[in-house]
Amino acid sequence: MSFNLSWQLIAASLLFFLSVKYVTGRRAKLPPGPSRLPLLGSLHKLPPSSVQKKFLEWGQEYGSDIIYVKLLRKRTIVLNTIEAARDLLDKRSAKYSDRPSMILHSDMIGQEAALVSMPYGDRFRRHRKWMYDGVGNKDKLRSYQDLQREGVNNLLRNLLNDPHEFLDHVHLYFANIMLQITYGRRVTSLQDELVQAGERSVEGANGLGGPGAQLVDLGFPLLQHIPSWFPGAQFKRDALRVREYVRIWKNLGYDLLAAEMATDTAVPCIYTSILAEFGGSPPSDVLDDVKGLPPLNVYGAGVETSRGTLSTWFLHLVRNPHMLCKAQEEIDRVIGNARLPEFGDRESLPYLNALLEETYRWSPILPNAVPHRVTVDDQYRGYDIPAGSTVIANTWAMTRDTRFYTDPEEFRPERFIVPDEKKDELLMPSSFVFGFGRRVCPGQALADPSLWLAMANIVALFDIKKAVDKAGNEITPPIVFLPGFTSQPAPFTCQVIPRSEKAAAMIAQLDV
Ligand code: HEM
Repeated sequence: MSFNLSWQLIAASLLFFLSVKYVTGRRAKLPPGPSRLPLLGSLHKLPPSSVQKKFLEWGQEYGSDIIYVKLLRKRTIVLNTIEAARDLLDKRSAKYSDRPSMILHSDMIGQEAALVSMPYGDRFRRHRKWMYDGVGNKDKLRSYQDLQREGVNNLLRNLLNDPHEFLDHVHLYFANIMLQITYGRRVTSLQDELVQAGERSVEGANGLGGPGAQLVDLGFPLLQHIPSWFPGAQFKRDALRVREYVRIWKNLGYDLLAAEMATDTAVPCIYTSILAEFGGSPPSDVLDDVKGLPPLNVYGAGVETSRGTLSTWFLHLVRNPHMLCKAQEEIDRVIGNARLPEFGDRESLPYLNALLEETYRWSPILPNAVPHRVTVDDQYRGYDIPAGSTVIANTWAMTRDTRFYTDPEEFRPERFIVPDEKKDELLMPSSFVFGFGRRVCPGQALADPSLWLAMANIVALFDIKKAVDKAGNEITPPIVFLPGFTSQPAPFTCQVIPRSEKAAAMIAQLDV
C-alpha cells in the first residue's frame, strides 16, 4: 500500500513538473523583428536618429505591423498601425499604462514629478487629476480664452515690430500661456527669469538624449550609482549639472508664488489651487510633486511641443504660398476684414483646420509618442507580449499609412476636406498624435485651440513670404528637423509682412 502511494506521489509530481514546464517553459512566440546578437540585441541595427523610420521599414520587411526589437536587455514592442495602438494602448489600457524605466530623465535629474516618465500608480493618478483640473476641465479651459486672446495679440504685435525673430515670438507666445496658467505670471520677454530657468533645464535634459534610451535605462540601472569622477561617467556628470538646473527651476516658481501668497498678491492659477488643497503648505511627502507640476508637466511638456508644431506650420506656409492664399481667401470670405478670428469661428474655417491637421500629420512632434510599458504577460494576434516590455506607438508610421493618406510624403491639407458622407472614413491626426489610453496627452485641449487661434490670426493679418538673398533670389527653406526627442524644425528665415496698411493699423490698436 505504502509502495503504491509513493509511486502515485512520484507520478503526480512528475506530471505537475512536466505540465509546469510545458506551460511556463515553452518558447514565447514573439512578434517578428530584426535578428539579434547576444547582449546587444538589435541595438547595433538602430540608426542614431529617426528610429521611427527604421521601425516602419522593419514592419514592412517582416510583414507585420507589430514588431519585436531587443535593445540590450530591454524587450521592445513597436506598434506601427493605428489599429494595433488602439487595440492595446486604448482598449487594454489597464495593462499598458505604465512607463518603462527612464532613470536618467527622472530620478537622476530630479524630475521624479514629471508625468511623462512617472510609473503608473497612485502618484500618477494624483498628477493626472491635477492636470485635468488645470488644463482639461471645460470651465477652466474657457476661462483661459482671454489670456490666449491676449497672447495672440502680443504675438501679432511682436511679428509686426520685429518680424525677423518670428520663431522667438512663437516661443514666447506659448511660454507666456503656460506661465500665466501655472504661476499667474505674465511674461513679455524670453529673458524672464522663469523662462530662462525653464529653457536651461529643458535644453539640459534634451542634451542627455532621448528618455529611456541610455545604458542606465536599457537594463543597467546600477550605472546610476557610478561615482561621477569615474572614467566614462560623463553621463553622470551631465545629469548632476542638469539636476541643479531643475532644482533651481522648481524652487524659483515655488518661492515667487509663496512670496506673492504671503502678501495676498498672487493671481489665481493652477499653483494657487493646488496649494489651497493643502491649506497653503503641502506636507513634505508631496512637496516635490507640488513644486514639480507647473514646471515639468505644464511648461516642460507644453512649450516645446506646441512651439515646434507652430514653427513647422510656418515652414510649410513659406514653402507653399498657395496654401496661405487659400487660407486667407477662406478667412476673408467667412469673417471679412473688419474683425479678427475668434474661437467661435473654427467650425466655419475648414481649410484652416485642415492645415493644422496636416501639420500634425506631416511631422508629428513626438514621432514615437512616449513609450508605454505592459505590466502583465499578454497575447495579441497570436503573439506573446511579455510583461515588462516597452511598447512604442510609432505615430510617425501611422501618419505614413497609405490606407488613410495617399502620397503621405506630400504636405496636402486638402486630404482632410471631403464631403460629409466621407468624413467618417478620415483618420484625423489630432486623434492619435497626442498619444493613447490613460497616458494620452493631458494638454491637448489647451494646445490645440492655442495653436488654432494663433494660426487664424496670423493668416488674417500677415503674408508669409520667402526671404530673399542679396542677389534678389528667393530662399526656399529646406525641410530640416533637429535631432532630438521632439521633432523641431531647424531655424529658417522668411518674411512676415502685414497684408495691408489696414491690417498693420489693426495690429497697432490691439489690447496687449
Ligand atoms: C502640439 C502639442 C502637443 C503634442 C503633440 C503632445 C503630444 C503628447 C504625446 C504624444 C504624449 C504621450 C502620450 C502617450 O504616452 O500615449 C504626451 C504626454 C504628455 N503631455 Fe503632451 N503634447 C502637446 C502639448 C502639451 C501641453 C500644452 C501640455 C501641458 C499643458 C502637455 C503635457 C503633457 C504631459 C504632462 C504628458 C505626460 C502624460 C502622462 O505620462 O500621463 N502636452 N503629449
